[in-house]
Amino acid sequence: MTSRRKDDHVRLALEQQHPGPGHSPFDDVSFVHHALAGIDRPDVSLATAFAGLSWQVPLYINAMTGGSEKTGRINRDLAIAARETGVPIASGSMSAYFKDPSCAATFSVLRTENPAGFVAANVNATASVEDARRAVDLLEANALQIHINTVQETVMPEGDRSFAAWVPQIGRIAAGVHVPVIVKEVGFGLSRESLLTLRDLGVRAADVGGRGGTDFARIENGRRDGPDYTFLEGWGQSTAACLLDAQGVDLPVLASGGVRHPLDVARALALGARGVGASAAFLRTLIDQGVEALVAQLTTWLDQLAALMTMLGAATPAQLARRDVLIHGALREFCADRGIDTARFTSRVATAPTPTGGSR
Ligand code: FNR
Repeated sequence: MTSRRKDDHVRLALEQQHPGPGHSPFDDVSFVHHALAGIDRPDVSLATAFAGLSWQVPLYINAMTGGSEKTGRINRDLAIAARETGVPIASGSMSAYFKDPSCAATFSVLRTENPAGFVAANVNATASVEDARRAVDLLEANALQIHINTVQETVMPEGDRSFAAWVPQIGRIAAGVHVPVIVKEVGFGLSRESLLTLRDLGVRAADVGGRGGTDFARIENGRRDGPDYTFLEGWGQSTAACLLDAQGVDLPVLASGGVRHPLDVARALALGARGVGASAAFLRTLIDQGVEALVAQLTTWLDQLAALMTMLGAATPAQLARRDVLIHGALREFCADRGIDTARFTSRVATAPTPTGGSR
């Protein structure tokens, strides 16, 4: 059952893609253009750090799969692409491994193909502390993601309907594993209130996992025979909205959900994300064109991100989070309703220290 579900998720996620220029919530974020960028490309470092972790690049391949023969091959190829580009990678949920240890290799391939890379294990919020440790051990993981997905569980025919145990269990897992725990949503977003709860539970970082990309309500509706929950498709807060909601919360945030290209990565970093993940955008390339194409895509994204940062005068991801951005449309309405002052993002450069140095 679990391995068929994993294959279904890949198939339905790929069917869901609508490549094209359609409006994304990220399009409600634009940079103020300052024509004198003031830095050179060699000045730019993509390195980022949070929760005691250091990454050479602020981009990662987010949790997807494992547990069946087919998804094991996908994990092998994702791991090769991660290794070739130095991009961090997360495993899909490892519940299948707890139920049937014979599928271990479909997950551990993430480490065997990528021995020196950053690899995150992934469990759900009901995993025992012992299973969470087994997941970390199997991958020799550098961090543990706990995914939270109440909407997906609700629509999933065989899904969980009891969520009360999640909060205390996240705290137990965070205290019981020796690597940093990162809690992630799967595409419906983390509110400020959720982030504050996670911070108090001892979680070290959170991936806001917002709306705008892969929609797991739609995926699970595609797996139902009986009455469906079509009306839940599009539920939740967009990734950009979550990042704005997170301002001032003393928990490092990562961003994923609907990231389409390097400009979306730059936008998320500008809104304070320490790293930016994508799943479907990379899965589609891998399935349609193969692992070499995925390596080329990741390389291009990193190259273009560095180019955008140069153009924007940001030598580091942290400096990018001090560039001026404008918030438009529905995102601006969200900010108004949640009491978030959008004006504070529009004139940050003027208050930053002026770069000094050689004449240009
Ligand atoms: C996912 N995602 C996911 N997340 C998770 O924490 N555990 C999992 O097992 C899975 N499985 C999974 C399978 C497939 C095929 C996809 C496409 C995605 C969710 C993923 O990590 C991410 O949060 C969402 O896909 C939103 O990002 P994108 O796809 O819009 O970039």
